[in-house]
This record gives sequence, C-alpha cells and structure tokens, in this order.
Amino acid sequence: MPGMTGHLNHSTMKIIIRNNSKEGSLWAAHYIAKRINEKAAVTDKPFVIGLCTGSTPLETYAELIRMVKAGEVSFKNVISFNMDEYVGLPESHPESYHSFMHHNLFDHIDEPKENIHILNGNAKDVEVECAAYEKAIVDAGGFDLFLGGVGEDGHIAFNEPFSSLQSRTRVVTLTQDTREVNARFFDGDPSKVPAQALTVGVATVLSAKEVVILAFGSKKARALQAAIEGPMSHYCTLSGLQNHPAGTIVCDENSIGEVKVSSYRYFKAVEAAES
Ligand code: GLP
Repeated sequence: MPGMTGHLNHSTMKIIIRNNSKEGSLWAAHYIAKRINEKAAVTDKPFVIGLCTGSTPLETYAELIRMVKAGEVSFKNVISFNMDEYVGLPESHPESYHSFMHHNLFDHIDEPKENIHILNGNAKDVEVECAAYEKAIVDAGGFDLFLGGVGEDGHIAFNEPFSSLQSRTRVVTLTQDTREVNARFFDGDPSKVPAQALTVGVATVLSAKEVVILAFGSKKARALQAAIEGPMSHYCTLSGLQNHPAGTIVCDENSIGEVKVSSYRYFKAVEAAES
C-alpha cells in the first residue's frame, strides 16, 4: 500500500534487499538518521538506540559519520547502549568493543560522552553490572531502535544457540564456533578470543520499538534462511524477530540467497508496493 513505508508496527517482517553491502548500509544509515530527525522534530526526549559491533555495521557507521559531519543528522540528543562486550578483555585492548565503537563511530560524531553506554566486561560483579544496564535502558526511556548484526549461526548480540528468547542482559559462554569465527581479530587463534561475554538478551533487543538487523555476504545466508523461514527457536536467536511488530532485515543478494525463490519475490514485491 503506497505511503506505508516506515510505519512502526508493520507486523510483517520487512526484508530490504540491496545489490551489495554498500547499498544496504546506505539504506540503513539513512533510515536511522531519518528516525532520529523525525523524533527530534516532535520532542526534546532523547532518541535511544542500541548499537552493534562487527564488520557488518562499518559502512553504516561510516555513512552516519559523514551525515553528522555534513549536518544531516546529530547525535547530541541520542543515547546509545551497545549490545555486548567480551569478559576480561581490557577496555583499551584494540579488539574490545569499547575500542571498536570509539574508533569506528563515537570519536567521529557529536554524541555526548555521558550518553554512551557499553557493558563493562571487567566489572567485579557482572550480575550487578547487567542488572544496572537493564535499568539504565528503562531509565533512558527504552529503545527507539535497535541496530544489530547476526552471527553465522543466527545469534543476535552474543545470544548463542540455546539462549532463551526471553533472555535479558547477562554473562554468556561463547560457542567454539563463535570463537573460531572471531579468531580473525585475535591473531587467528580461537583460544585468544575471550570465552565469555556480557550481552543484552534477546528480549532486551526485542523490547525496542523497532529492530533493524544488518546481514551481508553468503556467510550469513543460512542464518537468514533459518531466522526468516524457520521456526522461532532458541537455536537461531535472530528468529525471535518473527515475534516483533517492527522488525527489518537489511541484506544483500548473497545473504538472502538461501531463502525460497517465492519468499524472495514476495519481499521484493512488498518493498516495491510500499515505496
Ligand atoms: C559477534 C557480535 C555480534 C555480531 C557478530 C557478527 O558475534 N557479538 O553482535 O553480529 O559478531 O559479526 P560480523 O558483523 O563481523 O560478521
């Protein structure tokens, strides 16, 4: 139906398919900026966003940085909460998610320091840390939008297979698969990848008014097929998005490549009809 694009509570998972990660990332950055600007136009309340790390959001962050520098969007009234952090890795370690976020986004935009929240993987009491994080999200007003990626096994944040779809922020043990995938950042040695992480839960992500997931490249194709066409299951935690009223997956031709042709055609038809 013309004019419906962008409405929340669309109640049908939106799948935005672009030719490649660059085009998908531009779509995502412009969408996020649009949401921030729309809220700023009607209220002084901050825009609360959940943010992810990984290779996937890099082009989205680069475009958001460009847009901030060009005055097309501002993060002055944005409050962010990152989704996860390794346990026991010093914040200053180049592969900590603290380092990643500052290097790839926060050092280049106008978000006030006090608005930036990242789980402390070195907290003395991780349970207190996780409970305080959940409370801080609520105190900030809850998420307007959560931006996420997906692991090759379909995990969202660090909600590995068998995480409850009702899970909240907590400490988790990483799977051997995840440590092997992430070993590329740790001299190729899975044993150097921390064994545990703090992560928001599946339910924490799904508490957002809107969830936007980025997934590019053929390595993500099986995860997307399971999350989109499979049953809702703790084995592929992204599948929890099926139960969200406003979930969007931004993908490319490679990452959408494992879904049925009929599903693919439907997603394309929906986007064409709504734009
Ligand atoms: C880690 C992160 C996830 C991320 C995933 C995929 O597991 N905890 O949030 O989505 O990696 O990373 P990449 O984008 O590098 O493929």
